[in-house]
Amino acid sequence: MSQRPLGRRHPVFARVYGALAPLSEVGGGARTRQELLQGLRGSVLELGCGSGLNFRHYPPEVSRVTALEPEPQLRRLALRAARRSAVRVEVLSGVAERLPFPDGSQDAVVSALVLCSVDDLAGSLAEVRRVLRPGGEFRFLEHVRGRGVGGRVEDLLDPLWSRVAGGCHLNREAQAEVGRAGLQVEELRELATTALGIPLPGPRMLLGTARAPL
Ligand SMILES: C[S@@+](CC[C@H](N)C(=O)[O-])C[C@H]1O[C@@H](n2cnc3c(N)ncnc32)[C@H](O)[C@@H]1O
Repeated sequence: MSQRPLGRRHPVFARVYGALAPLSEVGGGARTRQELLQGLRGSVLELGCGSGLNFRHYPPEVSRVTALEPEPQLRRLALRAARRSAVRVEVLSGVAERLPFPDGSQDAVVSALVLCSVDDLAGSLAEVRRVLRPGGEFRFLEHVRGRGVGGRVEDLLDPLWSRVAGGCHLNREAQAEVGRAGLQVEELRELATTALGIPLPGPRMLLGTARAPL
C-alpha cells in the first residue's frame, strides 16, 4: 500500500482547479453529478472531493457524507461548501490508498475524477471494496484512456500532463481495475462529449456503478 504522506500539496493545480471547476456546473456538469449521486442513501464516503462540487447534489436520503481530500487548499474550499450543504458533510484529510474506516462500514463510496490521480489505483480500489458493506455501491465518474488514435495521443501527452495537472493521468483504464478489485460492475455508460449536439474530441468519460459482493 502507498506510503504517500497525507495532505500532499499541489498549490498551482489546486488554485486553477478550484477556480475553473465550478464553471463546468453550467456546462452540463451539474446534471452529470446529479446522475452520479441519484438514488444513494445512508452513509457515503467520497474520495478526493476537491472543492466539494458534489455536495449540493447528494439526495436527502443520504444521512452523512464523509469526504476525503488530501490537498489543503482544495480541502479549505470543500469545508466551505460543506457548511452550505443541505446534507451533513464532514471533510477530512486523507487518501484513497489508506481509508481510515473499518471494513464494511460504508453504504456507498463515490469517486469523481479521482482514480486518474491516485498514486496506487489497485490499492485504492482494494480499499473501496474493504470499506463497502456487502452489497454496497461504488459510484464513479472517471475519464479513461480513449480508443484508437485518441488513446495513443493520451499516452504521448501523459508524462507532461501528469506533472502539471496534480498527478492526473490521461491514459488509465480505471473501469477494468474496478472489476479486478472484485467489485461487480453493474452499469457503465460512456458520456458523449458534445456541444450543441456536435461530437467533440475530448477525454473518454465513464459513469459507472459497481457493487461489493454479498
Ligand atoms: C480532478 S480533481 C477532482 C475533484 C472532485 N472530485 C471533483 O469532482 O471536482 C482530483 C482530486 O483527487 C484528489 N486526489 C489526488 N490524489 C488522491 C488520493 N491518493 N486520494 C484521494 N484523493 C486524491 C486531488 O487532491 C483532487 O482533489
